Amino acid sequence: MKCLLIYFTGTFNTRYVTNKVRDRLQQEGWEVDTYEIDPLRTERLDLTPYDIVGLGGPIYGFCAPYAQLRFVRKQKFPRGQRVFIYKNSGETYHANDASSKYLLRKLRHDKADVQNEYHFLMPYNIHFRFDDYLVREMLEMDRKLLEIMVYELVHRIPNLKPYKMWPRFVASVVSRPQYIGGDVNSFLYRVDKDKCTQCGLCIKRCPTHNIYRKKNGEMGFHHNCLMCMRCSFFCPADAFYIGFLDDWGWKVNGGYDFRKIEQIQLDHPYITKDTKGFFECYIETYEKINNRYDELFPSCTNSQ
Ligand SMILES: Cc1cc2nc3c(=O)[nH]c(=O)nc-3n(C[C@H](O)[C@H](O)[C@H](O)COP(=O)(O)O)c2cc1C
Ligand code: SF4
Ligand code: SF4
Repeated sequence: MKCLLIYFTGTFNTRYVTNKVRDRLQQEGWEVDTYEIDPLRTERLDLTPYDIVGLGGPIYGFCAPYAQLRFVRKQKFPRGQRVFIYKNSGETYHANDASSKYLLRKLRHDKADVQNEYHFLMPYNIHFRFDDYLVREMLEMDRKLLEIMVYELVHRIPNLKPYKMWPRFVASVVSRPQYIGGDVNSFLYRVDKDKCTQCGLCIKRCPTHNIYRKKNGEMGFHHNCLMCMRCSFFCPADAFYIGFLDDWGWKVNGGYDFRKIEQIQLDHPYITKDTKGFFECYIETYEKINNRYDELFPSCTNSQ
């Protein structure tokens, strides 16, 4: 099998997931190519050599990021082309369920064969920082989900069910402001010149070249922002003010060290049946993943 993984990433969580998917599919003997979407390039890819295409990305505002959607809309999927979706995000509220609605619309328009979708758990890059121990537990769930995904893809077992009405409504309503939100919000972006060390990382890494150095040395912004958070998330001096997200206290600064987190020993559950509040939605998600995993791989579960 020849597979192409096309993905968009802001703060590299999707790149991490994509690499895991690639490595695991290669273990199955598949030939896997990856393609990271550059928001400034919308070339049309030749998809005909591929038996199957995977579309990866984070969830932004209960929807697919506009940069991903725009790129996918530019493509021509051969009739009957097998496609699967692997999305990731920090929460598993049902409001996220229909986030691929517009991707699916495009794929169905091209008469692609889309039967599988998977929602991986990855830590937030906005709102608040996740505890490393919880992230380790999420990665363990992702490992199981990946096994489920690979099994279902290899054995052609569909898992995509029609989305319920209300998540579809949420995806439609929130997607609109999300599409222009970055451009609008970037009018408010500022860099604290007392904190900024002029390292230039944000300029180099911004996927839309939205950041520049003014003549006086301070940082300036154009208005072509994806709200991907790469600049403020990775700024070593935590010097960014990111508009209304900052006012809400929704800025997260500093990446997650997945290599280090992967080494953490899981000796007690972070999420339990008594978990309340924000993470309550994880109870159902963990249960679904565990049940399906036990169903497909009973010998693994029994030997644990
Ligand atoms: C603008 C923006 C909107 C987001 N909206 C959601 C959301 O609606 N639901 C959610 O669970 N996570 C949301 N997130 C969190 C991301 O989906 C999550 O951190 C993801 O792993 C980031 O992936 P990336 O590093 O590949 O960009 C949002 C993040 C950003 C930057
Ligand atoms: S990454 Fe942060 S410290 Fe470096 S130039 Fe940008 S704002 Fe300044
Ligand atoms: S300015 Fe920051 S948030 Fe906007 S596209 Fe560039 S890196 Fe992403």
